[in-house]
Amino acid sequence: MTDARQSMLSRLWAYRPTTALARDFYTSAADYQVELEHIWYRDWLFVGHDCEVAHTGDYLTLQVGEYPILVVRDRDGEVRAFHNSCRHRGSRICSAEHGTTPRLVCPYHQWSYRLNGELIAARDMGEDFQRERYGLRPVHCARVGGYIWICLGAVAPDFDAFARQVEPYLRPHHLQDARVAFESTIVEQANWKLVWENNRECYHCAVNHPELARTFPATPTVSGPAAQSARMQAEGARWESLGLPSRYQLSANGQARIMRMPLLGAAVSYTMDGKPAVRRALSDAVTDSNVGALLMFNFPSTWNHVLGDHAISFRVLPLGATATQLTTKWLVHKDAVEGVDYDLRNLTEVWLATNDEDRRVCQENQLGVNSPIYEPAPYSPVHEAGVMQFVDWYRNHLIGRLTS
Ligand code: FES
Ligand SMILES: [Fe+2]
Repeated sequence: MTDARQSMLSRLWAYRPTTALARDFYTSAADYQVELEHIWYRDWLFVGHDCEVAHTGDYLTLQVGEYPILVVRDRDGEVRAFHNSCRHRGSRICSAEHGTTPRLVCPYHQWSYRLNGELIAARDMGEDFQRERYGLRPVHCARVGGYIWICLGAVAPDFDAFARQVEPYLRPHHLQDARVAFESTIVEQANWKLVWENNRECYHCAVNHPELARTFPATPTVSGPAAQSARMQAEGARWESLGLPSRYQLSANGQARIMRMPLLGAAVSYTMDGKPAVRRALSDAVTDSNVGALLMFNFPSTWNHVLGDHAISFRVLPLGATATQLTTKWLVHKDAVEGVDYDLRNLTEVWLATNDEDRRVCQENQLGVNSPIYEPAPYSPVHEAGVMQFVDWYRNHLIGRLTS
């Protein structure tokens, strides 16, 4: 075992997840490299939505650590993922974030690949050249409920248990048939775990999120890991009777959670007045005026909110030990028309502001943690149980990976 791995393992063994992590976990390039290799390059990661690659030849690209990745809809309607690196001399094949193409043609010397990855044309390579040996390198790809996932590992961890857990909750919302109305990508100068820790608590919400605090319940008994308020139970029972699975469910290893939660008071959407942002329901099958927010997370790459009128997905990708990219997408019914069924500013205002506020608090968190005098202190058992659940998962998951 390398020194970096051994060092991380001994610090993880010594760590008790009732306090924040020690400084190195948030700052060290060596630790970050171990996390890339043992988490980011081995776990299932959320990359985008089925509806972004709805038709043959539609593709999206993303960068996971050192790996450029390409996700494309092939001629059989299957969604496939490949390493976005030409088998000739390695050029990236697609550089746009989204596009449509009948075949994948490398811009450097025009080697051409079918949408299933087979190399079909390579000019003047000589008689002995064996085209079939130079197909694009595939990446594991799986889908559930309108969300596309990839895994860079040689052997992918089980995906089916997660799919079985969340599919019944997502099914009524018909996200496969939605449309991305808006997308935003920001960079937070903060370690990816600080971004997650911030996401897993609302201890900071009242003061930092004036827009979100109008509709999002900061109370841990509503939005926290042991959500059990009386309202929660009453609303949950009503939703279940409408065919909308709602109860809190955490996966056995603590990596994924799904639950449905009521918003504050009479609010039904994340808008400044709590009213729907979109006149047309997101799904033709979910027309009740108040279905709360379906919350789903899957460490380390995504958290999500599905409402009655729209859905918001968040994709987390690490850029370095102290930089994280966050991509947010707003999904609406595919036939909802901007300017008629919704106003884009009204739809995006709350989460654009919230993301920016979270970016600032995470960056300040990083700058303070960078100080040699920073010392981990206890989390609030009342407000930060969700954070403890995250760091507990992180500790156990990474120990598992480093010792297997
Ligand atoms: S690097 Fe792709 S064709 Fe040469
Ligand atoms: Fe926040």
